[in-house]
Amino acid sequence: MLKRHFLAWVAPVILLAVVLVFIALRPHSARILQPLNYNHKIHINTVGLGCNDCHLYTSKLASAGIPTLETCQTCHGDKPLSESPEEQKLLTYVAQGKEIPWVRVHEVPDHVYFSHRRHVLLGDLQCDECHGNVAEREEPFTSPVKPITMKNCLKCHREKGVTNDCLACHH
Ligand code: HEC
Ligand code: HEC
Ligand code: HEC
Ligand code: HEC
Ligand code: HEC
Repeated sequence: MLKRHFLAWVAPVILLAVVLVFIALRPHSARILQPLNYNHKIHINTVGLGCNDCHLYTSKLASAGIPTLETCQTCHGDKPLSESPEEQKLLTYVAQGKEIPWVRVHEVPDHVYFSHRRHVLLGDLQCDECHGNVAEREEPFTSPVKPITMKNCLKCHREKGVTNDCLACHH
């Protein structure tokens, strides 16, 4: 009697609890950690840089490009420009001549073709439309502000009267 009760009722409840705890803990361990706390807001609002000063290929190639150490070094050399410990980390990379191992956040799967040049130059779209208000970001990216899903691609294409032929995006 007790055994039957356990199997029918208690066991599924325990199983459910285990699954819920697992789900609750999972995103935490999968969170991206960037090697240093890069601050977009300072570089755009205080220093006065534009997106294309660091993401060099947005109107030339498919990929926007993550800046290399060389780009940072045009300003950050041997003398610190701030009292930030994050800049100290940067200067350690510079001293060692080692690229900063940024973790890529936005990425379409291999079966999808996406081009920044097409959208930014030919489509005349602002970065904000797909990446949110980057000029106000004080923390590095750990997840996309707007998820990169097929649904989001199709929605804008429908609104702008651009093709939603499967083969336009899937090769
Ligand atoms: C055109 C010049 C310029 C370039 C290029 C540049 N920076 Fe800076 N950066 C500055 C200046 C100026 C400050 C100090 C701003 C302040 O404190 O008011 C700064 C501050 C910083 C800080 C400390 C501020 C904080 O609180 O986090 C970090 C970290 C940093 N930069 C990282 C980078 C990285 C990484 C790159 C390359 C991807 C880069 N910078 C490229 C000019 C530049
Ligand atoms: C129409 C939407 C859209 C617009 C507009 C857009 N992006 Fe992107 N961005 C994406 C998508 C989708 C990816 C992932 C692409 C991939 O995996 O090849 C991405 C990836 C990136 C990346 C990381 C990978 C890479 O391509 O090097 C950077 C940096 C980036 N975008 C910056 C920008 C900047 C800067 C602008 C404005 C000049 C911009 N994006 C405009 C959708 C957009
Ligand atoms: C001084 C250089 C610099 C400038 C200027 C700059 N960025 Fe970035 N950007 C970076 C660095 C370094 C990273 C990687 C760290 C991070 O995620 O913040 C990055 C990351 C990104 C990413 C995420 C890339 C990925 O892995 O998917 C996007 C999107 C992006 N930037 C958009 C912009 C936009 C839009 C602007 C202009 C409003 C801009 N950036 C201006 C240096 C810069
Ligand atoms: C905010 C609006 C917007 C979003 C989001 C968007 N697109 Fe586009 N896309 C456009 C516009 C506008 C054009 C037309 C550009 C031009 O004039 O060439 C375009 C054109 C294209 C083309 C060329 C189509 C052709 O005529 O052959 C491809 C491929 C494409 N987009 C893929 C994507 C993918 C993949 C995504 C999602 C990851 C995406 N787009 C998200 C607005 C968008
Ligand atoms: C404007 C670009 C675009 C068009 C048009 C498009 N797709 Fe996609 N598709 C994507 C992107 C981006 C992804 C990857 C992100 C995601 O899975 O949401 C994707 C993912 C997929 C996947 C994989 C889903 C998975 O779970 O991995 C399939 C299957 C697919 N598309 C089928 C289609 C078919 C069929 C059509 C035509 C009716 C189509 N797509 C049209 C952009 C597009």
